[in-house]
Amino acid sequence: MQKIGVLTSGGDAPGMNACIRAVVRSAVQRGLDVVGVRRGYSGLLSEEFVKLNRRAVANIIQRGGTFLESSRCEEIKTSEGRKKGVQILQREGIEGLVVIGGDGTFRGAAAIAEESQIKLIGIPATIDNDVYGTDYAIGFDTAINTALEAIDRIRDTADAFDRIFFVEVMGRLSGFIALEVGIAGGAEEIIIPERETDLEELCRTLKQSFKRGKRSSIIVVAEGNEVGHTMQIAQYVEYRLKASCRVCILGHLQRGGAPTARDRVLASKLGIAAIEGILNGKEGHVVGEKRGEVVYIPFHDVLENKKELDTDLLESTKVLAM
Ligand code: F6P
Repeated sequence: MQKIGVLTSGGDAPGMNACIRAVVRSAVQRGLDVVGVRRGYSGLLSEEFVKLNRRAVANIIQRGGTFLESSRCEEIKTSEGRKKGVQILQREGIEGLVVIGGDGTFRGAAAIAEESQIKLIGIPATIDNDVYGTDYAIGFDTAINTALEAIDRIRDTADAFDRIFFVEVMGRLSGFIALEVGIAGGAEEIIIPERETDLEELCRTLKQSFKRGKRSSIIVVAEGNEVGHTMQIAQYVEYRLKASCRVCILGHLQRGGAPTARDRVLASKLGIAAIEGILNGKEGHVVGEKRGEVVYIPFHDVLENKKELDTDLLESTKVLAM
């Protein structure tokens, strides 16, 4: 192999830059030429390439976002789109492609790998941390710490006004952010898409906690798939309990900012492991981390399985919120 490409796709995540840096530097070290593909699969289809060398990735380890930029590309979901992408890669002499992103990114990569000779390898980077087979995805640690800082601040004002605050965190289909942020932020309840929420039960729990002397509460809610869902929950509770409720939607704030040390280390480790993998027969895999060890998970395993939440941790809020 002479030349590889690298791209970031889907929702950006803090640590993507640190990961690109590790991919580029370890590839150069192994004698490969590296091409950066701008704007994910969209940039591949519109041939937006930039030559990358060691210096091109200097001074980016600390930067949030992704300097290659990202996109959610519809065209790559079609076989015509992928055919076009493969032709472009072949014309450019790009034999291997490192894709940094989440499940959507890997779905595109798995299809390209199946339909061509291009060697693809994935690196999990999504604040949602919902990639099967890896304990952590790049960006998750930064996102939960950003959300936690916000919750600590919200708690001050919730306390000052004896209010119930509903803090919405990201996670359309998964509650990994909500769970960790909820536990670390001392939330009274954690509402996640994986579990149905009984609003009457929630009201009973809040009532009991007020009886025990609590004056304010934080409820962490994963955004879920329905816009306005946190607002609806807050309105219900306000009506039923005649309590003062407020909603704070943290939104994209959680996606930005400098990556934490943990995310930079994970990104560096997985970037190097991706290059080792692509040169040693691990194409068609996602490189992740399990109990601190690097693991290679086949694309089909990642795509066909759902990462499970730690339900014991979720249950522990009942004890901790007393
Ligand atoms: O990348 C994951 C994520 O941040 C989700 O948590 C969120 O639901 C979604 O992306 C938001 O996507 P967009 O930035 O395209 O609105």
